[in-house]
Amino acid sequence: MPPATPQPINLFEYEPLAKARLEPLAYDYYAGGAEDELTLRENRAAYGRIKLRPRMLVGVGQIELATTVLGISISLPVMVPPMAFHGMAHPDGEVATARGAGAAGTLMVVSPPSNRSLEEVAAAATGPLWFQLYVYKDRDVSASLVRRAEAAGYRALVWTVDFPVAGRREADERNGFGLPPHLRQGNFTGRDEVRPTAPGGSGLARVVAAEYDRSLTWDALAWLRSLTRIPIVVKGILTAEDATRAVEHGADAIAVSNHGGRQLDTAVATIEALPEVVEAVAGRCEVYVDGGIRRGTDVLKALALGARAVFVGRPVLWGLAVSGAEGVQRVLELLRHELEVDMALAGCPTPESTDRSLVRLPNGGAPL
Ligand code: FNR
Repeated sequence: MPPATPQPINLFEYEPLAKARLEPLAYDYYAGGAEDELTLRENRAAYGRIKLRPRMLVGVGQIELATTVLGISISLPVMVPPMAFHGMAHPDGEVATARGAGAAGTLMVVSPPSNRSLEEVAAAATGPLWFQLYVYKDRDVSASLVRRAEAAGYRALVWTVDFPVAGRREADERNGFGLPPHLRQGNFTGRDEVRPTAPGGSGLARVVAAEYDRSLTWDALAWLRSLTRIPIVVKGILTAEDATRAVEHGADAIAVSNHGGRQLDTAVATIEALPEVVEAVAGRCEVYVDGGIRRGTDVLKALALGARAVFVGRPVLWGLAVSGAEGVQRVLELLRHELEVDMALAGCPTPESTDRSLVRLPNGGAPL
């Protein structure tokens, strides 16, 4: 009998299992970052440079992980961020991811370039959903997505602002990335599809250049606000300056993100950007963070530095590729288990009990 495939015991162990199941073009698209992938690596490395200052004898008989984001209850402070094209990982695509996230008691953000339509995902979901938005040159396309998302019960809009053009993901260019013939963008009919191109280009970068509005400025937030009453999260903020502007323009929450190192290479690691954003926001809205979060201690550090909750990206896609909704759930449960142990060891029985005194920043806490 062949040896049974070992069950992963941490998030990292999902990646090689997923890689073995994925087409190389799909794996490269999911895993890759921009240019030299320095930001991709820094997102993770930066967590290793932050040290924990655990407290003893706090009484950790009961660890509570549940929290709220924009008033929505989630069972752990970890959410699923918007990611395009889940159909390359599993035939059920975003429908399976939403079921996995719901089974773990958390929320998922659905991306416009999904392979299943936002209505299909909403019909299958067992947990809360937010919808991510890009603003296209043809604003009617975005406006119609907002109306559809609201009608389907999505509870917030996540406006991603770090994507005026696609970052140069060299693996995708080498592969001439595009969707395989059996997949299409589930939210659009009759629009330009992301199809493979000759090596040296990327089908995604081509569509983004043709359709996404790179002339956007902060005024677009007022336009979005005029379309909907549901809260708006601004995703892709890395500086105190932009955090202040986001709050001034009426953002309901901010997601500190560099798009998982896929856009501007050498942009600052997100956990290093978080403190200045939290300071600038000064409690006026919730702040989330993503990028390289793989361990319970990473989540703990993000909470200590002022994040209300975090997003975990690629490992969710690895779980999806390995075993669909169940794999997504298991990835989130592994992280929950780690976080519970780490909170007990650090003397933090609840997410609210974390604060900055829990961490020692590498340069003594001065701006990094
Ligand atoms: C993304 N991300 C992303 N973000 C977004 O706002 N809209 C999108 O459509 C996508 N698409 C997407 C595809 C893939 C394959 C990945 C890996 C990422 C970025 C995502 O929301 C999140 O910011 C990062 O994935 C977080 O980093 P980690 O956890 O993957 O390191």
